[in-house]
Amino acid sequence: KKVVLAYSGGLDTSVILPWLKETYGYEVVCYAAELGQGDELKNIKQKAMKTGAEDCVVDDLRKTFVEDYVWPMLKSGAVYENGYLLGTSIARPLIAKRQVEVAHQYGASAVAHGATGKGNDQVRFELTFMSLDPSLDIVAPWKDPNFTLTSREAAIDYAKKRNIPIDQTKRKIYSRDRNLWHISHEGADLEDPWNEPQNSLFVMSRPISKAPAKPDYVEIGFENGIPVKLDGKAVSGVTMIERLNEIGGIHGVGQVDLVENRLVGMKSRGVYETPGGTILMNAHEALETLTMERETYHYKKQAALKYADIVYNGQWFCPIREALDAFFDSTQRVVNGTVRVKLFKGHAIPVGIKSPNSLYSDELASFEMGAEYDSTDAAGFIRLFGLPMKVNGVVNRKAAKK
Ligand code: ARG
Ligand code: SIN
Repeated sequence: KKVVLAYSGGLDTSVILPWLKETYGYEVVCYAAELGQGDELKNIKQKAMKTGAEDCVVDDLRKTFVEDYVWPMLKSGAVYENGYLLGTSIARPLIAKRQVEVAHQYGASAVAHGATGKGNDQVRFELTFMSLDPSLDIVAPWKDPNFTLTSREAAIDYAKKRNIPIDQTKRKIYSRDRNLWHISHEGADLEDPWNEPQNSLFVMSRPISKAPAKPDYVEIGFENGIPVKLDGKAVSGVTMIERLNEIGGIHGVGQVDLVENRLVGMKSRGVYETPGGTILMNAHEALETLTMERETYHYKKQAALKYADIVYNGQWFCPIREALDAFFDSTQRVVNGTVRVKLFKGHAIPVGIKSPNSLYSDELASFEMGAEYDSTDAAGFIRLFGLPMKVNGVVNRKAAKK
């Protein structure tokens, strides 16, 4: 029997691989996705084969990650609990979906992941497995009573005994997850919310105190809510994010330090770096303020909260997500134009917006009133709009006097 393991080549999945063989007699096919996590994927196939895998599939998913996952999320404006741009959450359903496809390709009856039993990632993997192929067995070693390699020491000893290549040391390190959109840091000294993140923590961006004293500017061109041009030049989504990560990172843009509510109940403290993503979110938001009709804009803000929960909770393949995408896509027809963003000391500030769909009218807003805005209308409008408050005022003042 075969299992497809979501494999990163890190310590956890490196010991899970032989453990699946030894404990359950599985043949293990490893699956690794290139999502822009840097050089972690170098030699991953050799590593997997050396660790005893039957085969190892390595996929470059960056394009589909950006176009089919990140862009819909950007258009929705989803942010979890006021700060987290959902970089890990948005990647898990894609990895899990590809794992299911690889399972079908290899005739595997099971899929496995190395997420712990305490976090969100287990939910995201397993909800995706369940909805895309409910017949697959799900193997989650960290929740298996037979799995005793949950401490770093035990895992390292286990790996050493089997000559499994690992490059970890026994000291406590951060739990990190990186892709094109972000990197997350959890654990170690961050477990105490009183501890400020150390300068040495940051990977994609400079500590703000080390950011240059002079700002840089970028111009993002959007079509239907999707960023398509950088400084006037058409670029692919992957390139867009890579370039913005670089320049945003220099200015320390997109660092967020958050105590968040995990789906499984506990609070956890995380530090996130999302330099390019933050620039894009801020620019997109600015363009919406100029182009989107009021009721649509207000309703969209509420729907974004729901969308953030759906992404965070791993419900990507739930029909509500597609339905919401249809709503957001409809709102994005007017989100065309260019935003100039100033990058400075951790900030990405939209400082210029222009759009062929601009609803902002100089005449309407200024005091040179045209035919559309007749000030005498405002008197009647306020009388009727304020009527319930007036009635309430009259009645309650009488009652108070009694
Ligand atoms: N707390 C974030 C989330 O739930 C980040 C999780 C990071 N995962 C990891 N395996 N290090 O999306
Ligand atoms: C894990 O527990 O595997 C990582 C953190 C999370 O999933 O929230």
